[in-house]
Amino acid sequence: MKKLITPNLEIRNHIPSDWKDLHEYLSLPEIYKFEPGGPISVSESRALIKKRCNGDDFLAVKLRESGKMIGHLYFHRIEPERFLTWELGFIFNPDYQNHGYCTEASAALVRYAFEALDAHKITAYCNPENTSSWKVLEKIGMIREGHFKKKGFFRTDPNGNPLWHDAYAYGMLKNS
Ligand SMILES: CC(C)(COP(=O)(O)OP(=O)(O)OC[C@H]1O[C@@H](n2cnc3c(N)ncnc32)[C@H](O)[C@@H]1OP(=O)(O)O)[C@@H](O)C(=O)NCCC(=O)NCCS
Repeated sequence: MKKLITPNLEIRNHIPSDWKDLHEYLSLPEIYKFEPGGPISVSESRALIKKRCNGDDFLAVKLRESGKMIGHLYFHRIEPERFLTWELGFIFNPDYQNHGYCTEASAALVRYAFEALDAHKITAYCNPENTSSWKVLEKIGMIREGHFKKKGFFRTDPNGNPLWHDAYAYGMLKNS
């Protein structure tokens, strides 16, 4: 994907050396409160970046000033391709949260999708309890289109019963 530049950030495809900055936050348990999985090791971080270097599904968000990767965006083209729809997601390093960086990066990516990729629609899902996530989506102009009850689960209780979570569905159309 083309590199995107915003006032504070650079958004671009991953390079192998990103593994270190990625590991800094994907090794923290709190990052997974509303996400599947759990803290990953150094070797898993290296392998993950290697995989993500091939393709546009995951994009590095770097501070222009220091070059540090402070988070990443998920940007996945939904099948069938003729629907011209992409799903947006994001994870940022807690040390850099609440500075407006996710909003700045997501707004730039969505703008790029509509202008350069001719996207018809951008979608996103998040847990209603994940306030910072849906706040970002609303700040970039996405509309809450639905509230799905007990849509899925990432974990189980000690007896193996699913811990179901609800999900908000957000969307934005090209000419909205
Ligand atoms: C969601 C996430 C990417 C947001 O990143 P960020 O860089 O902090 O986002 P921004 O700073 O652009 O915006 C966050 C907004 O949420 C608000 N916020 C944060 N915590 C909040 C809380 N507990 N209650 C209410 N608002 C909250 C901030 O004030 C800010 O809004 P504002 O600009 O109106 O003040 C980040 O919190 C994260 O990585 N979380 C863990 C992974 C995750 O859950 N990803 C999303 C899965 S759907």
